[in-house]
Amino acid sequence: MIDINAAARANVHLIDHPLVQHKLTLMRKKESSTNSFRHLLNELSSLMAYEVCRDMALQDIEIETPLERMTAKVIDGKKLVFVSILRAGNGILDGVLSVVPGARVGHIGLYRDPATLQAVEYYFKMPKNMEERDIVVVDPMLATGNSAAAAVSRLKACQPKSIKFLCLLTCPEGINAMYQAHPDVPVYTAAIDRELNSHGYILPGLGDAGDRIFGTQ
Ligand code: URA
Repeated sequence: MIDINAAARANVHLIDHPLVQHKLTLMRKKESSTNSFRHLLNELSSLMAYEVCRDMALQDIEIETPLERMTAKVIDGKKLVFVSILRAGNGILDGVLSVVPGARVGHIGLYRDPATLQAVEYYFKMPKNMEERDIVVVDPMLATGNSAAAAVSRLKACQPKSIKFLCLLTCPEGINAMYQAHPDVPVYTAAIDRELNSHGYILPGLGDAGDRIFGTQ
């Protein structure tokens, strides 16, 4: 078990709302079916989106209520891009899009080269005009932090206005690695678990998120 660097910990937003914690516990249970795991992930992702969007810019528009004209505030959802790290990140998309339906979606696919252990990109598709957009990268597990950090490096080349990272679960290793690579990228998570095992799984964790979302094991 390793310690979390104090500056890295300060960069983490722990979403400890009781509804989030309750649903996460149900997801962790090994007997949760694929169907209920996916359903819970959807609900949890939409709840977590509220926290990630807390500081989203608002703009004024003129509207008419049934009684009078007023200036009211709206978000420009189109300026937000949710970027899914394939494949497990896709499990978060429906939930976050249910609360920001106008947001755009990008996908990034990375695999680890067994010889060099470096993340290699095999897919990258983003909306246009990324320099005008705020990015929320989504992946259920921030474990070693290798693919997350590689994805963020690749996205920084698009010069977006800002980048945040949203996951369900992380661990000290993931938090430290992400902070070391990208101290300017805040991490939003529902839990910080104890540690990584030698296979790169978070303990106690919830197992392989991709397999549990897609029923592939
Ligand atoms: N990816 C997963 O799906 N689970 C873990 O515990 C770590 C990485």
